[in-house]
Amino acid sequence: MKKYNNEEFTIQNLGEEVTLYGWVAKKRDLGGLIFIDLRDRSGIVQIVINPDNKFYNTALEIKNEYVLKVTGKIVERQNKNPNINTGEIEVIVENLEILNTANTLPIELNEDNLSLEDTRLKYRYLDLRRSRLQKNFMIRHQITKAVRNYLDDNGFIDLETPILTKSTPEGARDYLVPSRVNKGKFYALPQSPQIFKQLLMVAGFEKYYQIAKCFRDEDLRADRQPEFTQIDIEMSFAQEEDIFSLSEGMFKKILKEVKGIDLVTPFKRISYDEAMALYGTDKPDTRFEMLLNDISQVFNNTSFQMFKEILNNNGVINAIVVKNAASKYSRKNIDELTDFVKKYGAKGLAWIKNINNELSGSIIKNLNDKEINELKTRLKLEENDLVFVVADKKKISQTALGALRNKLARELNLIDNNKYNFLWVTDFPMFEYSETENRYMAAHHPFTMPKDVNSLDDKEHCYARAYDSVLNGYELASGSVRIHDKNIQAKVFEALQISKEEAKLKFGFLLEAFKYGAPPHIGIAFGLERLTMILCDTDNIRDVVTFPKTASASCLMTEAPSIVDTKQLEELGITVK
Ligand code: AMO
Repeated sequence: MKKYNNEEFTIQNLGEEVTLYGWVAKKRDLGGLIFIDLRDRSGIVQIVINPDNKFYNTALEIKNEYVLKVTGKIVERQNKNPNINTGEIEVIVENLEILNTANTLPIELNEDNLSLEDTRLKYRYLDLRRSRLQKNFMIRHQITKAVRNYLDDNGFIDLETPILTKSTPEGARDYLVPSRVNKGKFYALPQSPQIFKQLLMVAGFEKYYQIAKCFRDEDLRADRQPEFTQIDIEMSFAQEEDIFSLSEGMFKKILKEVKGIDLVTPFKRISYDEAMALYGTDKPDTRFEMLLNDISQVFNNTSFQMFKEILNNNGVINAIVVKNAASKYSRKNIDELTDFVKKYGAKGLAWIKNINNELSGSIIKNLNDKEINELKTRLKLEENDLVFVVADKKKISQTALGALRNKLARELNLIDNNKYNFLWVTDFPMFEYSETENRYMAAHHPFTMPKDVNSLDDKEHCYARAYDSVLNGYELASGSVRIHDKNIQAKVFEALQISKEEAKLKFGFLLEAFKYGAPPHIGIAFGLERLTMILCDTDNIRDVVTFPKTASASCLMTEAPSIVDTKQLEELGITVK
């Protein structure tokens, strides 16, 4: 078995005889002397073959990505390379074996000169040789190892739940699997182990966890894959505070082991309403300020027709102040930002610049002196400040400015990438109105406990015992206190307009289970890829998935999904339209 990691050798190892294995990352032929960077998963070590070496002719044949076995002695380098761990030493070859040859690679492994992503995904097994990706997967491994150890130390047991199952209530589209033996019937791949983990509580396991595969047929984004992994947790006889402190302890351990960072706990908490009001999103990035400011009151008696109408129609006027940025944004830049906020439903983007203590901009001529002065004090405007205003329905005004806030912070480099700002967002709404379904849906899932059972009829003001964990602007996890009382569950189904028949058909087995002494229980699920992305400092989820899918949910390497044999379809009783 391979004994050494190539990158572990330093000046301390001078004179040692070692046998190394690896791939040729680079070969240089310097007038007789041949230098090879031999790469394994730890990194690179330089090996040297002299012209009088009996393996010199073998070395001449070697090309990039050949697989070698090398025995040699560690010596001090003349030209040191401070950029790599092994930069002070090299290995003088005494024995050299080519274990395999390699064709010229169809992609570049050089980080500065990467090939097109589609080509890299087609040859993913080669792309994965890149050291940056290798490091990412080491981090992913360290995270899952820390999670398993931590949860085990805290009395949680790892239980698996089925993959071929029935539709679960996470709200995305299911992936369906046809059944051969039950023609016309389908399994659904789990969107999460939600129902099963609740049943494991009924079964009396008390503390469960699983690093679970989940499948969702939904529109993909930079932080979403159709199959992904959750760190899934459920426990009985516990409250929100227990979930918070358990999770905080887990992150303390992960950050310490993966990043060497001592996290400060407890994490900050903010209610959903407050998060929307201050950050315009339920996943606030708190690494920078630029908070939303509701300036509706300034315009209580305004004669500016547009603002007046919006306020009369229960709309709001929110503003953000971009400090010291007025001179950085031209009309053209602002037009681009206007197009950006329109994607979030905003009809427009008003702007104000404070230059030489004078306000100018798109709406100033419509405002009176009192309003202008109030704006100056309320927004604490200073020289060269730039203000953006969105007047609209509350949700649109908040969401559009929230997205703009994130965009501007990135553009202006306001984000400290060394910060890990964990946050709990609590008191989520119980219901969410679906424009497509024309009815209220469960904002989390239908087994979530309302804060107050008596407020179920007031859909806009009913809150849930549900919470999210947020890190640096990403939603890391969701969880909730579950309903374990069948009467409350019936009321919630009623509020969601889920009929008794539909409830029985979809979740009958769970409702049945709740008749036999279901303990009070609570849980949470963290997106493993999202956490790994953040700790690997990438905003592309594909960087932390070994064999990821594209935005159109296909695998360019295996060419899945693919057409299947008519015979296979016949066995399943399926015809394709
Ligand atoms: P939820 O649906 O919020 O909750 O999912 C929990 C976390 O899983 C991650 N996640 C994803 N990651 C990558 N790609 C996706 N397509 C994707 N979808 C979700 C996110 C998210 O916060 N059963 C509940 C949890 C519970 O109540 O215990 C659930 O699945 O990080």
